[in-house]
Amino acid sequence: MARSKVTVVGAGNVGATCAHWIVTKHLADVVLVDIVEGVPQGKALDLAESAPVMGFDLKVTGSTSYEATANSDVVVITAGVPRKKDPVTGKYPSRDELVKTNQKIVGEVTRQVAHYSPNAILIIVSNPLDAMCHVALHESGFPSNRVIGQAGALDTARYKTFLAMELGVSVNDIHGMVLGGHGDTMVPLPRHTSVGGIPVRELIAEDRLQQIIQRTRDGGGEIVSLLGVSAWYAPAAGTVEMVEAIIRDQKRVIPSAVLLDGQYGYNGLYIGVPTVLGAGGVERVIEMQLNDEEKKMLEVSAEAVRSVVNILGY
Ligand code: NAI
Ligand code: 2OP
Repeated sequence: MARSKVTVVGAGNVGATCAHWIVTKHLADVVLVDIVEGVPQGKALDLAESAPVMGFDLKVTGSTSYEATANSDVVVITAGVPRKKDPVTGKYPSRDELVKTNQKIVGEVTRQVAHYSPNAILIIVSNPLDAMCHVALHESGFPSNRVIGQAGALDTARYKTFLAMELGVSVNDIHGMVLGGHGDTMVPLPRHTSVGGIPVRELIAEDRLQQIIQRTRDGGGEIVSLLGVSAWYAPAAGTVEMVEAIIRDQKRVIPSAVLLDGQYGYNGLYIGVPTVLGAGGVERVIEMQLNDEEKKMLEVSAEAVRSVVNILGY
């Protein structure tokens, strides 16, 4: 059986760590692509040289051109620029400027990968996540089941980590999910959270639970305040959880940013909802029975996504 092939565009912190988790999990040959000459080649070679020790028989290559990515099964897009101070003016770009810059980058990358891998499933990671999914959908012309955003896998992993830390139990026994857009308005769902089957509210007092939920919402910012740059280990792990579900056709239920087509009352907007991920990409969107409060939180989140999507001008 032919081995799967995954391209990761953007060989920075998140992209290189995705490549690392992919080979660690023995999932696929990996092609790393970046715009900076030497970086994808150097990181790919370094990772390839770990194979005899780690015991993976996979090809890891790096390139600044897209020919090497041809016929990938999955393409992960992490290319983009972070929000940082202009060294000349000392000013931060406005949100709109940053959206436009990453729209250009993600648009250009998407056109290239779609040309060389017309049947691939795209997993978008670049921020602002939900808006960049719209860019990739628009530029690729792919059906929406093959253009998926990663955010919920990460946000859910953070939520579960904090709950496991609080209770001193295995992360494997925490079940729960975070929906909505990737940002402060994400929607953790305590009503659907359990610990070994026990509703979380029987184990953690409401005020403490709300603190954990707030920490989840602020999870990205917490890492930035410690490191000065955004996170990469957990974001890459969440992304590779999705890659694995697709490559191994696992039918995993993972919250992912998907283009809604009437589900949850939304149309034509990318929002994080529970999806079944398998060889076909998004094989199904699961519609949960949300109560009024949860619906209201999802609407706030959708409004935040809409306001960024409007900047794209599609
Ligand atoms: P990074 O700065 O370490 O890496 C980005 C890489 O993209 C750089 O190596 C850069 O050279 C490359 N790049 C820029 N323009 C390119 C182009 N036109 N073609 C190919 N490569 C290009 O950034 P990091 O930390 O890896 O983050 C990447 C993106 O992922 C950012 O937009 C970040 O905000 C986002 N992110 C999203 C998360 C999520 O959950 N969705 C979580 C963490 C980060
Ligand atoms: C994170 O949540 C910044 O999206 C990035 O860590």
